[in-house]
Amino acid sequence: MTLEEIAKKMCAKGKGILAADESTGTMDKRLTSVGVECTDKNRLNFRETLFTSSAMKSYIGGVILFDVTIREKTSTGISIPELLEKNNSVVGIKVDKGTKKLAGSPEEVITDGLDGLRERLSEYYKLGARFTKWRAVFNIGKNYPSIQSIKSNAHALARYSALVQEAKMVPIVEPEVLMEGDHDIDTCYKVTTDVLNECFNELAIQKVLLKGIVLKPNMVVPGFKSSKKVTPEEIAKKTLDCLKKNVPSDVPGIAFLSGGQSEQEATNNLDAINKINDTNFLITYSYGRALQQSALKTWAEEMNNTKAIHDVFNHRAKMNGLASKGEWSQALEV
Ligand code: 13P
Repeated sequence: MTLEEIAKKMCAKGKGILAADESTGTMDKRLTSVGVECTDKNRLNFRETLFTSSAMKSYIGGVILFDVTIREKTSTGISIPELLEKNNSVVGIKVDKGTKKLAGSPEEVITDGLDGLRERLSEYYKLGARFTKWRAVFNIGKNYPSIQSIKSNAHALARYSALVQEAKMVPIVEPEVLMEGDHDIDTCYKVTTDVLNECFNELAIQKVLLKGIVLKPNMVVPGFKSSKKVTPEEIAKKTLDCLKKNVPSDVPGIAFLSGGQSEQEATNNLDAINKINDTNFLITYSYGRALQQSALKTWAEEMNNTKAIHDVFNHRAKMNGLASKGEWSQALEV
């Protein structure tokens, strides 16, 4: 398959991406939040349970894995990548090494992981990966994000993308403007504009083929602590406007992160965006928390009741599948 074909398969209409690439530390926070012991067995058990649900075939075009998971075997003996391929999902891998303090602007962060990346990519390809993820993080504050942070992170994202395409995989380019803070939606719009612009400048300099990437941006939303609440329709209008102005039309797929939105908010907002999507972009989800939260809770309560866990995950994935076509409605949630 060409890179463009892989990108389109990941974001096919009615499907999206499951971000199950939490690092061991982040996954442990999730397990602790539902009162489950943090062990290798439990981490794998939860993921295997999701990956054996019927939603995988119907609504999940791709799954992002963490380094540990792509090397693991399921309880039936096949490898996790084989299980995903059987369900026709493209196998993805998080390749960044998390964030570090940005020298010279220590309240901001830079994403690490370029050293040795070429060699790691060739191993991941052999393990079955056909796409990758790298997340850059931007905080909104009085003086943030700084030009230094925007330029350094965009440069790293572009160098990563060039290496990934050289290794014949599709890079997910994830510049995340965080929802932390009390900023309003227009501030998020402006910062997202600056960040996207710089990312596409750098991607051009590094000669990255835009038809062979998937963009994973934040939606344009107010900060968690903003006093000005907005409707999904306003979020949709501003998000789509921002994407139309700042994302080159060659990009085939845009898959949003959920960023701390509740499950229904993330679905509702994605649906509102697709209801007015007049672009050629395939616009869908690449959710972590907003796809897994309820399933995680049910798993913690009834670990041996696979049907109950599958029912919850299948429902959430179906709702997001509908939202990726602009066909969701609140009435379907009950
Ligand atoms: P959330 O949807 O939970 O924000 O996670 C998506 C992701 O992959 C962040 O890198």
